[in-house]
Amino acid sequence: MLTLLKSLSNFQLAILPLLLPCYLLLQMLGNPLLILQGWMTIKSDAESSPPPVGSQLLAYVVVGVLGYVVTNALIPNIQQYTLRKGISGKDLGKRGTPTADRDVPEALGIAPGTIFLVCLISCVVGYSHHHPAKLLDLNSALLSVCFMLFLGFTDDVLDWPWRYKLVLPSVASLPLLCCYAGSTSVVVPIPMRSWLMQQGEYTWLAKVLTFPQNDSAFMAPLIAVDPKADGALLDLGILYYVYMGMLAVFCTNAINIYAGINGLEVGQSFIIGCAVLIHNLIEMEHEGQQLRENHLFSAMIMLSFLGVTLALLRHNWFPATVFVGDTYCYFAGMTFAVVGILGHFSKTLLLFFIPQILNFLWSCPQLFKLAPCPRHRLPRFDPATGLMQPSTFPCKAADFKLLKRQPDDTECANMTLLNLCLQLLGPMSERDLCVTLLAFQILSCAVGFGIRYRVSQLFFDG
Ligand code: UD1
Ligand code: MG
Repeated sequence: MLTLLKSLSNFQLAILPLLLPCYLLLQMLGNPLLILQGWMTIKSDAESSPPPVGSQLLAYVVVGVLGYVVTNALIPNIQQYTLRKGISGKDLGKRGTPTADRDVPEALGIAPGTIFLVCLISCVVGYSHHHPAKLLDLNSALLSVCFMLFLGFTDDVLDWPWRYKLVLPSVASLPLLCCYAGSTSVVVPIPMRSWLMQQGEYTWLAKVLTFPQNDSAFMAPLIAVDPKADGALLDLGILYYVYMGMLAVFCTNAINIYAGINGLEVGQSFIIGCAVLIHNLIEMEHEGQQLRENHLFSAMIMLSFLGVTLALLRHNWFPATVFVGDTYCYFAGMTFAVVGILGHFSKTLLLFFIPQILNFLWSCPQLFKLAPCPRHRLPRFDPATGLMQPSTFPCKAADFKLLKRQPDDTECANMTLLNLCLQLLGPMSERDLCVTLLAFQILSCAVGFGIRYRVSQLFFDG
């Protein structure tokens, strides 16, 4: 299976994750020609009622395709500007080859990011007519993404310390949190409901969680258990907002640290974007005006995002002519946080981040300084074989014995999923490593869908 994937052309690889969302989109659009015909005829009640979902989706597809075309044309121009200003980096995966000293333009995420904002701003025009109530959501989404794009670009130019990278995304998410009007309750899995309520009475655990029971002048309970729902609903209140703020920090940084080989940052975001779009299209078939509107909103953002991301992938794919920089990682991460929060599916979103969660967990010892963390942890290129090897950090023979191939080695592999993949599957070329990790991303998203639509039914009703 992996061999088959590796043998596919770049175009076939890019189309693969798009197949399912395209199929679902075509089903929802019906006959696009009829929709186009409808666009030509001006209706007198056009302002009072929103156009059919198919018509709106087609408009967003057109915006996304335009986003692709413009971004693709813009990148070669913008890379001249970044090179001229010295915003460039060396391709560390080509060390020891004739191209090792070439300056690769950095921070090219600024091109798709800006075009994405232009796409969304043009969507605002349609929204102000048909969904005025959703305008606040769209404007706060624009503000948050814009702030992250700015932060990412300044990080590429100024190299911010990690503490800023952790704090600022949560500030950027504040506009979203302020206009979040959804529930702050989580549904408790069926087997755990008896832990909270038994025969209409709170258990000791529920009493601890909802302390103090009666609002006192000094302190109100942070968490509430709905007595009418018999332990099925846990209202997290302010903690739910903290969770959503942390989601933005996680999404932005998780993509940034699962990086370092050509095509990986953009490729993973492209696949997650496709998964989000599939989820939106599936959910839009369900009953409920609010639910449909939320997912249509998210699909609109995702279609523009996928358009500009695909264009960037063309230039960042092995051998990369541009680097995407932290600009793109932050912009992509924030875009996912935006759709997850405002689309009210943040928990499902996390199911599409399984590789990023694993990479973060595996990286924790180095991130939290329990083990030395070099500036770059990306795999090491071996010019003799043309293959990538796990990169290492120096350590004492007595340390990290479990992580080393030989217990008395004086170096240990950096703890990233990229290096782990090379340790498990053996050395491979940069392109093959990227394809392998992206195949894992697709598999993880499929598992995420399985959990969301199959396994969750065992634990939640409805
Ligand atoms: C994060 C990772 C770091 C990884 C780096 C690579 C953590 C804590 N940090 O740091 O380990 O090495 O991303 O993106 O996990 N580069 C390539 N080929 C690529 C992409 C990047 O060689 O395909 C190199 C280039 O020299 C480029 C540099 O990485 O200039 C960009 O690194 P930067 O995004 O600044 O690193 P961080 O995000 O700080
Ligand atoms: Mg980075």
